[in-house]
Amino acid sequence: MLLAKLRRASDVCLFGRRRWPNVAARRRGRFRAHGVLATAGHICHHFTQTLGNWRPERWRIPITAIEGEFVTLKVGYIIGSLSASSINRTLAKAIVRLAPAELDLEEIRIAELPVYNRDFDADYPPEGTALKEAIASVDAVLFITPEYNRDIPGSLKNAIDWASRPWGTNSFDRKPSAVIGTSPGKIGTAVAQQNLRGILSYCNAPQMSAPEAYIQFTPGLINDDGEVADASTEQFLRDFIDEFSRFITRALTVLPR
Ligand SMILES: Cc1cc2nc3c(=O)[nH]c(=O)nc-3n(C[C@H](O)[C@H](O)[C@H](O)COP(=O)(O)O)c2cc1C
Repeated sequence: MLLAKLRRASDVCLFGRRRWPNVAARRRGRFRAHGVLATAGHICHHFTQTLGNWRPERWRIPITAIEGEFVTLKVGYIIGSLSASSINRTLAKAIVRLAPAELDLEEIRIAELPVYNRDFDADYPPEGTALKEAIASVDAVLFITPEYNRDIPGSLKNAIDWASRPWGTNSFDRKPSAVIGTSPGKIGTAVAQQNLRGILSYCNAPQMSAPEAYIQFTPGLINDDGEVADASTEQFLRDFIDEFSRFITRALTVLPR
């Protein structure tokens, strides 16, 4: 038990030394491993590897200090569909259920946005401002989108246009992002996602490139509570959102906003 905690401390010591400004204030848990204790974790690991019978339990190390504090990462998710019976909204429920504890997911709604027109730039309407504020308040954005005619739905493109303007205030600039989507068809929104990636590149949003997630939605795959019937799909979605958490951490560590 102690050894596991020490190893965990050594795993996270990099995070303890490199802080990114916008999440540092919300540190609450395991990621602020003290540098000295993390080093002790490395030593402990080394001794157990090399000496075999060495007993780390004899070392009196304050576990509470090793547990330290941890980061909660806020993720805003945008659902590309406005449909009341959207299967992508159902997918979103599953992702929220399966997300790791350090991720705090909340929806960024796009349904109320008017159609973007650059004449609005001089005086943004409240809906546009609210969208930009919502994106500014999160550490990362997850896009969960259907495919319409081999592209993203107009509603999602409209939201991205709103958030990217007025010129010089692009909300996606350096905002870590990921893309997922579902459709009844076998390619599972692959074409829409590729097009979305091009848009996000232009908007300078760092993207998680792998795993890609093209989910074919079959009847009963995910119920209205977000419970996934198929174990392999559930594991895939859990791995996807776990990897996104790690990607956000890496992106914000090397590229503080
Ligand atoms: C206008 C329109 C275009 C569509 N085009 C595609 C498409 O290009 N590829 C695809 O796999 N499904 C396509 N579909 C089917 C959608 O995948 C399906 O309606 C899905 O349920 C939409 O996601 P949602 O339920 O989250 O709105 C299209 C549906 C509509 C309404």
